[in-house]
Amino acid sequence: MTEILTPDDSGIARAADLLRAGALVAFGTETVYGLGADATNADAVAAIFAAKNRPRFNPLICHYPAAEAAFAHVVADEHARVLAERFWPGPLTLVLPRAADCPVALLTGAGLDTLAVRVPAHDVALALLRRTGRPVAAPSANRSGHVSPTTATHVLEELAGRIAAVVDSGPSRVGVESTVLDLSGPEPVMLRPGGVTREALEACVGRVRTAPPLAGAAPRSPGLLASHYAPSRPVRLSALAVDTSDGLLAFGAPLPGAGATFQLSASQDMAEAAARLFEGLRYLDRVPGVRRIAVMPIPDTGLGLAINDRLLRAAAPR
Ligand code: TXA
Ligand code: MG
Repeated sequence: MTEILTPDDSGIARAADLLRAGALVAFGTETVYGLGADATNADAVAAIFAAKNRPRFNPLICHYPAAEAAFAHVVADEHARVLAERFWPGPLTLVLPRAADCPVALLTGAGLDTLAVRVPAHDVALALLRRTGRPVAAPSANRSGHVSPTTATHVLEELAGRIAAVVDSGPSRVGVESTVLDLSGPEPVMLRPGGVTREALEACVGRVRTAPPLAGAAPRSPGLLASHYAPSRPVRLSALAVDTSDGLLAFGAPLPGAGATFQLSASQDMAEAAARLFEGLRYLDRVPGVRRIAVMPIPDTGLGLAINDRLLRAAAPR
């Protein structure tokens, strides 16, 4: 049963307790309803992808109650500070390099070196974020491929029974998602148009490029383009045998003979494997003596679909 919580002190306290315990809680923002989880808890973030039926790991936005909290987890430059001053709280998401000691789970950012951060302009959301005391990862609270919900009723139509609770804070005012602006490169690039216009951004930081148009009809996540994190060592999928030059990404009883092994899930639990995937790829990409990464077969069921999608990208010729 999904709890429907009121947007008052007791509802917010309950929602914060659930989030801190690793449960999924949907909540209203000024743009759309988000499906929230503790961004520092990889298992909770994996549960977001499972609840949404997402076939791949898109990087998620981390929500904060204030700019200073956000900028403790990313490296903010002058542009970021000016934009935060002008547009936060509000429908603008900034993509910035992760700080060295960033506690946000790698799965939240789909393994990238950057993190998307935003401060929503919504009193209930801000109260919830303050009370939770952790960054909250939240994609729109719909099933994959469906439209973003702007009321608690829409959220329940999509996710009732799959999430712990929804905070009913009334209809979302803006109704379209936040503008996503990438500040991690040499010049600002708008990855997704949204609640803050390009003109408004340019008035603050000068020229803003638009991400190049993407091939195909389906909008692809900008986070999954060429710049997306991929290991530098070659990746071999569905490995059935390994030797000492292999770093093994194990799923279940490990193949014998690897030079190094990272266990995704000894019990072959998909959510556990999803939560550990990016950590594992990074570890095997760095561990000395290994020349390539060998991945044991992972079934294409449930979260396995998203795991295999990511592994296919990691293994694609570059
Ligand atoms: O208005 C919104 O932004 C809503 C509310 C809930 O805050 N959230 C939302 O999240 O729309 P989602 O997951 O549906 O969209 C996140 C967007 C995706 O296009 C994703 O690719 C991009 O942000 N993104 C997130 N992290 C990124 C990163 N590190 N680099 C590039 N793009 C990133
Ligand atoms: Mg969405």
